[in-house]
Amino acid sequence: MLTNEKIKEMIGELTLDEKISMIHGAAFFETAGVPRLGIPPLVFSDGPMGVRLEFKKDSWEKKNLSDDYITYLPCNSALAATFNRELAYETGSVLGEEARGRGKDVILGPGVNIKRSPLCGRNFEYFSEDPYLTKELAVEYVKGVQQWDVAACVKHFLANNQETDRLAVDTIVDEEVLREIYMPAFYDVLKRGNCYSLMGSYNRINGKFGSQHTHYLNEVVRDEWEYDGLIVSDWGAVHDSVEAAESGLDVEMSVTADYDDYFMAEPLKKLIMEGKVSEELIDKKIEHILILMNRLNMLDGERRSGTYNTEEHRKAALKVAEESVVLLKNDKNILPLDKKLKKLLVIGENADKLHALGGGSAELKALYEISPLMGIKKLLGGNTKVEYAKGYSEDIFRGDEEDKWQERSLDLNVERVGSSEEADRRMKELREQLRNEALELAKEYENIIFVGGYDHVPGHDSEGDDKADIKLPYDQDILIKELLKIRPDMPIVLTGGSDVDMREWIDDAHALLWGWYGGMEGGTAIAKALFGDVNPSGRLPETFYHDISECGAHAIGQYGTVGRVEYHDGIYVGYRYTDKFGVTPQFPFGYGLSYTTFELSGGQLDTEADAYICTVKNTGSRAGKVSVLVYMKGKQDEPEKVLAGFDKIYLEPGEVKDVAVCITDGMIGGREYFAYI
Ligand code: GLC
Repeated sequence: MLTNEKIKEMIGELTLDEKISMIHGAAFFETAGVPRLGIPPLVFSDGPMGVRLEFKKDSWEKKNLSDDYITYLPCNSALAATFNRELAYETGSVLGEEARGRGKDVILGPGVNIKRSPLCGRNFEYFSEDPYLTKELAVEYVKGVQQWDVAACVKHFLANNQETDRLAVDTIVDEEVLREIYMPAFYDVLKRGNCYSLMGSYNRINGKFGSQHTHYLNEVVRDEWEYDGLIVSDWGAVHDSVEAAESGLDVEMSVTADYDDYFMAEPLKKLIMEGKVSEELIDKKIEHILILMNRLNMLDGERRSGTYNTEEHRKAALKVAEESVVLLKNDKNILPLDKKLKKLLVIGENADKLHALGGGSAELKALYEISPLMGIKKLLGGNTKVEYAKGYSEDIFRGDEEDKWQERSLDLNVERVGSSEEADRRMKELREQLRNEALELAKEYENIIFVGGYDHVPGHDSEGDDKADIKLPYDQDILIKELLKIRPDMPIVLTGGSDVDMREWIDDAHALLWGWYGGMEGGTAIAKALFGDVNPSGRLPETFYHDISECGAHAIGQYGTVGRVEYHDGIYVGYRYTDKFGVTPQFPFGYGLSYTTFELSGGQLDTEADAYICTVKNTGSRAGKVSVLVYMKGKQDEPEKVLAGFDKIYLEPGEVKDVAVCITDGMIGGREYFAYI
């Protein structure tokens, strides 16, 4: 490692041109190095669930080579549902080793924006509605990444909670709300997680753009939090040379190849030459870049080399996926299913659909992806005849509307027809045909499984767009209702990044599993949960509402507005809102069933150890894992409860364990705490 003096010396040797070349993109995911002084380029890569594929230089065209397939990890919402810090660390470690193996210096994740509304297109990339759960897991994830001499890059700072008008919307939110809800995860990840880099957001916060915000980047992150890591803009999020130069931002990245025209390139150099901007501001940025490189052993010393696509990585991906599955309903113990089925019918496009290559910048070129259908088939083997019916289809007929993202049209497998009216008509016909085929077939089967939910099509779980509502797309509700009339005990599996409105069929359904986007082994995990090789232990990291009218962002705040969005919901996000305003959601935060039963008893504080101690017994007939959540009770004019601790334990049938749940933020005297399992 170089000394600080050596770093200062290097800065003194750099010319202005060399400094300018280091603080903006010289390619879509790279800055320029200074070979003369042994300073390498800085290489970035997405994303939170794996190392993104390679693009051709200066274009969004994929290279399409065979060398950038990777381990596709479960999405961050799935990781949050595990309520398991060790798995968060392991996820980060896989990501860090793979990033290093692919020659990357900065991996652009985790995304820790709070899931303020179920409509946000990027919810799947984020952890939770709760700041505590988010920060506890993201801290471990970052520690896992950075042990591989790769920088994690916590994003998107700040309050980037909607995709609608994301490049410019002005997020109006009180400072104390930011500090209680939207900042804590960033603070803990930077300070406790020692995260080496931070990404500014696209949106404005109280009037100024997030990636050049002098209050939040300078006064808060740099001064108050004493952060000396690298701050990079989101891609195309810088709008003014002087503001960027004077802000805590260090590197400007963007989505076009006119690198010299970037705000922090030639335009900034001109301002410095004219004496309008001090070169010392640039020296500060260079210092942060060199500090980061030094921390990654890029400038001298031994740097870890990493690798990708290993068996251990895939095992880790499976472990996370298995613990992320949430059992939401299991009346009459319909689940787990008997493996000795003679025949089985699997219905639903999401049984067969692969999700890796979708969602925007989180898209991945997975070495493979096990769909739920393949997971079921490979678990049951050849003695069960498994039949498949699609049942519904994503929109394949489209009018002339373009799907644009980062200046490239998505290669959706769509068939262009004359107009959107013609497309709607053709889609209606196609869905009726698929539905009727599935319903006819269903009459011949005792055992059916439905697999549906969302996908990464823009307007569902994808960057750049929010959802219009939380209705299941593609008329799935009609199909589910009709199927339940034929087979009332049909288990339903839904995959997606956040909540759906289940009202049309939930009372008639007896078995329901939620599977998120479980990565390359997601289908294996879903199959193992359905047939009992895994006892589900996932918990909802967010509230599942009947309807968005039950969500604070929509009930008292604004969401999805263009130009300006006002957070009148304040700190009442998620369960903080439903508790306070007496709303009973479809499934509450922290909810999740098991194939066994657990009993909680006792409960006292150990103020010495900052722990809440209780006893848990497995009162059922199956072994299983269970998360013990500890809440702090609110006082007058506060949220009714806030999550203050959690721990996950494994119990054999009949086994009893005392659990000391650490209140990691420290207990507050005079406060009451209680446990929930
Ligand atoms: C995107 C995203 C950000 C991503 C970056 C690079 O627009 O907002 O999360 O890391 O650009 O692709």
